[in-house]
Amino acid sequence: MRIDELSRPIVVGHRGFRAKYPENTMSGFHAAVDAGIEMVELDVSLSKDRHVVVMHDETLDRTTNGRGAVRDSLWAEIRQLDAGSWFDGRFSGEPVPDLKAVFESIGKQCVINVEIKPDAVEPEERPDGIENQVAAAIDCYGLLGSVVVSSFHPLALKRLAVRPAEKRPLLAVLSGKKTPFDPFEVLQSIPAFSWHPDHRLLDAAAVETAHRLGVLVLPYTVNDMADIRRLLDMGVDGIITDDPVSVRTWLKTAIPFG
Ligand code: G3P
Ligand code: MG
Repeated sequence: MRIDELSRPIVVGHRGFRAKYPENTMSGFHAAVDAGIEMVELDVSLSKDRHVVVMHDETLDRTTNGRGAVRDSLWAEIRQLDAGSWFDGRFSGEPVPDLKAVFESIGKQCVINVEIKPDAVEPEERPDGIENQVAAAIDCYGLLGSVVVSSFHPLALKRLAVRPAEKRPLLAVLSGKKTPFDPFEVLQSIPAFSWHPDHRLLDAAAVETAHRLGVLVLPYTVNDMADIRRLLDMGVDGIITDDPVSVRTWLKTAIPFG
């Protein structure tokens, strides 16, 4: 699915389908896609041997039965870990996917938002730096119009922004409470396809400014229906949520002609 084919408002499954499935796993991605969710978000980091691993945290500790930093672990070790039991025994043995496995499996069925974690962005650009590996994988799987690359780290986005048009992914600026830059400056300088702000910091004027810059606004992480209503009233284009299926069901009831 291409980004211009998405239904509105856009409902993005945060880390797949985090409310009901272990985050950033194939079970969660498949469950979201099978339920008709059109866009999922995932997080990527680099392993010690520079493999692009789908995981949110800097360490393996919370979401697997492994211990230690992702960047100190080999992909051959990470891929053996259990990324499901911590969430529920029903998901015992669920592996940690790599980015290519996700692209291969669901890349044609939905839009994927790949979030490059800031700690994986290196000060010096390298051909096998995470942003270049993500771009190469998008190219390899023919997913240029079907993937949005986001990051809290503008450097990753700026490096991708200068690629030739036929190899330049759609880019999104993430911003939250601790963001040390003016998101509007970065949105303009890249230029970005979308802005993914912490929803608690958003107001109608900011949405309007973003729209004037020609970017979509997809706030994270919104799980409360009152918040969703408030954000839609502000004019956001969609939301990133842990429970995309409940949100979509609620939207169909709340906004029958939306
Ligand atoms: O991409 C939106 C959201 O995922 C950003 O925060 O910490 O959940 O990756 P985090
Ligand atoms: Mg994320």
